[in-house]
Amino acid sequence: MALRTADTLMRASTRWLAVVLPLGVLLRSAFVWLYTPGRFYWGNLIHAHSHTAYFGWAGLGLMGLILHLLPGFTGRPVADSRPLAWLERLAPWAVGGALVTFAWWGYGGPSIAFSALNEVLWVLFAVAFWREVRQMPLRTWPPALWLIGAAVLMLLLSISGTTLVIISEAILDSAFPLLYQAGVYLFLELYGDGWVEVGLMGVVLAMSAGASEERPAVRRIALAALLLMAPAALRMLIPRGLEGPLAWLSVLAGALFGAVQFWFLALARRRWLPEAARPWWYLAGLSLAAKALLEFLPLLPAFSAMGLNRSLVIGFLHLKLLLLSSSGLLGALTVVRGAASPWAFRLFAAGSVAMVAALAAHGFLAEAVRGTSWPLYLVAFAAAFPAAIGGIWAARSWR
Ligand code: HEM
Repeated sequence: MALRTADTLMRASTRWLAVVLPLGVLLRSAFVWLYTPGRFYWGNLIHAHSHTAYFGWAGLGLMGLILHLLPGFTGRPVADSRPLAWLERLAPWAVGGALVTFAWWGYGGPSIAFSALNEVLWVLFAVAFWREVRQMPLRTWPPALWLIGAAVLMLLLSISGTTLVIISEAILDSAFPLLYQAGVYLFLELYGDGWVEVGLMGVVLAMSAGASEERPAVRRIALAALLLMAPAALRMLIPRGLEGPLAWLSVLAGALFGAVQFWFLALARRRWLPEAARPWWYLAGLSLAAKALLEFLPLLPAFSAMGLNRSLVIGFLHLKLLLLSSSGLLGALTVVRGAASPWAFRLFAAGSVAMVAALAAHGFLAEAVRGTSWPLYLVAFAAAFPAAIGGIWAARSWR
């Protein structure tokens, strides 16, 4: 049964990818032609896209992969349990409900309720994970499990971010905008960089072959990620007015996290990667290197202006979530179910790189050079098609 849960979650995640990517293409069209999406609002559709991507595609996919890998760590099959049974039962409602309510109403009672239901899934998953690993003393944990364990902890900690958002919106009636922003970025950092990125680092180590002397280094990487993630999240408040020691602490934490990501890449370079995943993980590795470098940007005075530029922020988010996390996940899924067509990879890689590059170029050029805004948005829109087709094609045999 537990094996079936892993399979169900991985299949479900690829179905959600097939919803998220076309929705992303639709959203990009709005930057090329100004029009209204029928009875919907673009802002609500953006929330539907991002929450389904996080909760459905990345979240369920990573949970499925971890459940699939757990027997390799513990030496026995994952036990059937009530938390796992409920996780499987509730997952389609939690993600589907969030998609529909965000698309229809945006942030509000119904979408907050479904977001909370997703948080229940995370707790159920963490309980099932803990039950599997609690008999193993920490010092015997293999390096990959350290990263995965830290990632699961950060998944739980990310609930603090959404809780702050709910308190700020529903109880304090948006009276403290910085509190709302702190909640959003705490969630984004702990969920996106913590749970998804660090979890994928663990998955890559678990699925590749390498030297056992890496153990202390990987342990330090996992601990550093755990300590740095929450303070690093506060960097994003600097363009919105955060100053003083807290601002500097956040910049330092972010830069250290950049160094930690380079450290992981140095270790991963020496590993033997499974053939099917290789192109996907090379793309993810290059994206991780670019992202790690960008973690040092807040040290520059120009950061505040960049942090308020929508194209640069969205370009960075898609470097992280499309180029890095999605190719990491797609690569891991190919290890479980066999290689994807090389053309699926080529389309995904070319489209995603072009889209992120066009958004970055838009961020730097649109205001400085007249007449560049629309053509760059057109390139980002055109590039979204191959990215979406390649991603859905690569995940196809799981549906
Ligand atoms: C073909 C692929 C994709 C396209 C074309 C696309 C397009 C878009 C667009 C147009 C926006 C809104 C931009 C704006 O408001 O300026 C957006 C936002 C976002 N997307 Fe995507 N996306 C894609 C894939 C993904 C994936 C795979 C993920 C996550 C795994 C993701 C996560 C997000 C997030 C978190 C936001 C920000 C939402 C916010 O600011 O509230 N996207 N995307």
